[in-house]
Amino acid sequence: EERAPGTMAEPFLVESPNVTYSKDFIEAKYTYSTVHVCKENGVTKVRPCSTRFTFRTGRQVPRLGVMLVGWGGNNGTTVTAAVLANKLGLSWMTKTGRKKANYYGSLLQASTVCLGTGPSGDVYVPFRDLLPMVHPNDIVFDGWDISSLNLAEAMKRAEVLEWPLQEQLWPHMEKMKPRPSIYIPEFIAANQEERADNVLRGSMAEQVEQIRRDIRDFKESSGVDKVIVLWTANTERFCDIVPGLNDTADNLLRAIERGLEVSPSTLFAVASILEGCAYINGSPQNTFVPGAVELAAQRRVFIGGDDFKSGQTKLKSVLVDFLVGAGLKTKSIVSYNHLGNNDGKNLSAPQQFRSKEISKSNVVDDTVQANPILYGPQDKPDHCVVIKYVPYVGDSKRALDEYTSEIMMGGTNTIVIHNTCEDSLLASPIILDLAILTELCQRITFCTEADPEFQGFHSVLSILAFLCKAPLVPEGTPVVNALFRQRSCIENILRACLGLPPQNHMLLEHKMQ
Ligand code: NAI
Repeated sequence: EERAPGTMAEPFLVESPNVTYSKDFIEAKYTYSTVHVCKENGVTKVRPCSTRFTFRTGRQVPRLGVMLVGWGGNNGTTVTAAVLANKLGLSWMTKTGRKKANYYGSLLQASTVCLGTGPSGDVYVPFRDLLPMVHPNDIVFDGWDISSLNLAEAMKRAEVLEWPLQEQLWPHMEKMKPRPSIYIPEFIAANQEERADNVLRGSMAEQVEQIRRDIRDFKESSGVDKVIVLWTANTERFCDIVPGLNDTADNLLRAIERGLEVSPSTLFAVASILEGCAYINGSPQNTFVPGAVELAAQRRVFIGGDDFKSGQTKLKSVLVDFLVGAGLKTKSIVSYNHLGNNDGKNLSAPQQFRSKEISKSNVVDDTVQANPILYGPQDKPDHCVVIKYVPYVGDSKRALDEYTSEIMMGGTNTIVIHNTCEDSLLASPIILDLAILTELCQRITFCTEADPEFQGFHSVLSILAFLCKAPLVPEGTPVVNALFRQRSCIENILRACLGLPPQNHMLLEHKMQ
């Protein structure tokens, strides 16, 4: 299905004195209700508050270009192939029958939200119909990789998609070739060196300049209106935060001029921000050193991350929320993974594993801290994460989890979960959601009665948390890991842009005599 970018016909219209549709905007007046709690003279005072917002959403959907760092990797090739296969309406035979291209696993394309109630019950619409959004079939891909293989060869190397599909995609993917990238060997595992045959030369500042030229070149040659850059390259080791080096925007830019220690992922972030392009980090490393965060704020460019939340951590952020939310005291969480793709190979090196371990480890913190009945201030579950590289299983990652909780009167409950699936087929729809949601947020502005000048979201785009293992949030903001709270956040903000109240699930109309 081809859709021309531009103003789209709305799939539904909101009829309300608070909502107006003009040629360029949907404007909605919205009352945001919160509850303020404080202690005064030893008494806890609880005060409901409300703020009047006006949301304005641009209706012109641009042509979107997405540049992937690590384009020739398993995720990069799989997401590119999946979009092409959907666009071309491809199907292919397997031993269990004919399969058709789809977008399963995408929050926006394959899940629904309840709009309201009609004569025959609840009315559900695709998430993507809530506001005008880019359709994934219309995204144009480009990118960089330290490996020079064209996308067809790289797709074959990935061993993710069925061969009859690869054959159909081959002539299209063969023409796509990753641009040479920034390679600093010490940041990724030494075992990656053999594929690094497509790398930029020159000083650090010259390489950043080249990345900026690449972004401009892609924009001009492809005719896209907007570019978003997303890191789906190998996991890097963490960077130390060093005063004078990467603690402020100025220091970071100076460090690049002088060729000091700055990771490739941070160099890409800086290049994107300087080009005014949103930058999303799909891997666990601390790309967003304070200097990069400050630069994004100064330039009012969105940054988001970290680390795609695709499998084990996604389940964990549901399961522990359920256990602790049900009043059970989870005491131990043990997670084993083994995988055989190049990501697993890279993570077999201690420093890169450490980045992943950190990213995976904080996911239950908010849930635990929210329940002082079960957990004291220093109390939290034992949490152990193991990752092993087993080449034979390829992209079919295995994750084994054991959750042990204390139940009533000294009893224990142990839940064991075994999870198997192609990792890149989980990550690809997340890449699409990240890009499409970020693009939508670039078209949303709002003001309040107290602050009547329209502004955009904070440059640290925390609405992406649903899609990220270790959500990046503005300084001083609470981090939410619980999956359904993250989902409600997106759903209710999008509803607010239409002047619709948040989903409250009260169903009071069915609870009356
Ligand atoms: P992959 O190893 O197949 O792909 C990474 C690609 O990045 C490779 O082609 C490599 O040559 C390239 N690369 C490395 N350094 C580069 C640089 N400096 N510039 C440009 N290209 C560079 O890995 P895969 O499976 O695609 O995963 C990518 C990243 O996404 C990994 O960091 C992984 O941890 C992360 N991730 C993946 C998830 C999944 O479900 N697949 C979930 C969460 C995170």
